Amino acid sequence: MAGTFDLLVTGAHLATMTGGAPYGAIRDGALGIVGDRIAWVGAERDLPRDVAAHRLLHVPGAWATPGLIDCHTHLVYAGSRADEFEARLTGATYADIARAGGGINATVRATRAAGDEALVEASRPRLAALAAEGVTTVEIKSGYGLDTRTECRMLRVARRLAAEAGVDVRTTLLAAHAVPPEFAGRPDDYVDVVCRETIPEAAGAGLADAVDAFCETVGFDAAQTRRVFAVARVHGLPVKLHADQLSDGGGAALAAEFGALSADHLEYANDAGVAAMARSGTVAVLLPGAYYALGENRVPPIGTLRARGVPMAVATDCNPGTSPATSLLLMLNMACTLFRLTPEESLQGVTRHAARALGLADRGTLARGQRADVALWDIASPAELAYRIGGNPCRGIVRAGREWNGSTR
Ligand code: NIG
Ligand code: FE
Repeated sequence: MAGTFDLLVTGAHLATMTGGAPYGAIRDGALGIVGDRIAWVGAERDLPRDVAAHRLLHVPGAWATPGLIDCHTHLVYAGSRADEFEARLTGATYADIARAGGGINATVRATRAAGDEALVEASRPRLAALAAEGVTTVEIKSGYGLDTRTECRMLRVARRLAAEAGVDVRTTLLAAHAVPPEFAGRPDDYVDVVCRETIPEAAGAGLADAVDAFCETVGFDAAQTRRVFAVARVHGLPVKLHADQLSDGGGAALAAEFGALSADHLEYANDAGVAAMARSGTVAVLLPGAYYALGENRVPPIGTLRARGVPMAVATDCNPGTSPATSLLLMLNMACTLFRLTPEESLQGVTRHAARALGLADRGTLARGQRADVALWDIASPAELAYRIGGNPCRGIVRAGREWNGSTR
């Protein structure tokens, strides 16, 4: 007796991402959903005969994947940095601009000046663009407030936006993103505030699911990052790290030392750091949009990550400075073309490995017991998701068992 499903999806091929066959594919599959969970997955011909469903979603020829997960974004911010884009194209570097008071601090000025409503309005289209491409879970960082009040405000706005869009959100406190102007030349004093005030307040208010830091010559050094992570640990918050993006600062090893959920960027990560990540189970989050937009030419150590079995996630890094990107599908393409991931690895990177980068065991695959987050695609094979440059083949979305039919586009 199979019981009754609330929703039964038929006619689609399934990219379950559970291993085994490439993409964990099941041709002519069926998905039974009860409440917000997947209750049955398999070939349609194997569906129990006595099965019933309150609602049938028949999508002949479509492919179903787990709802996509964008595990690294800074999508809540005000303003634009198109002027810096222009400046970089005439020779200025990202670090030059940051040292001259632009970069992250330019967005900090705009974000501090914006009220909550303005911040919501500015950020809403970015989340909507991700959601329209089948993203059902998104991570959003703070980091453009750099004072306790604005950092907490960003996290509240992130939660509010996601609730409004019906997307599940994980918020990350990134107070250690840059040294704010009022602490110029006194990074340790700012880190004191982050440790004594910002983390405790965000944690106390239940606003943050994790803590992140920018460990870099233009960000915070290893000792400062350690202080931030130690306080995160006291508050029971897992950590993530912007690591080794522009230089080898030993970020990968530092992240591993704290059992970080993920170390992100990693262009300059060294072998020992990657080995440490493998031991600690830290996910490598690859951000090809930032690599591309900054015109970098050093790719992350993909071969070493692969050889050591470090799970690789892929994300947009949606931010105004280094990755003004709102297409996770484009990142799949870039991860393949620029970083030489296989299309299957890139899809794992926005499903099961992205879930792991957020510490979420309940999503990222199409398997019994998982959250019923499903994206439906008008494609002939899963590789098409990475193959295309532009366009959106998403034809429907199921979020926590509830059906969205493309009206989100
Ligand atoms: O992930 N690396 C630091 N943080 C962002 C850039 C933020 C910005 O420039 O506004 C990143 O690339
Ligand atoms: Fe980032």
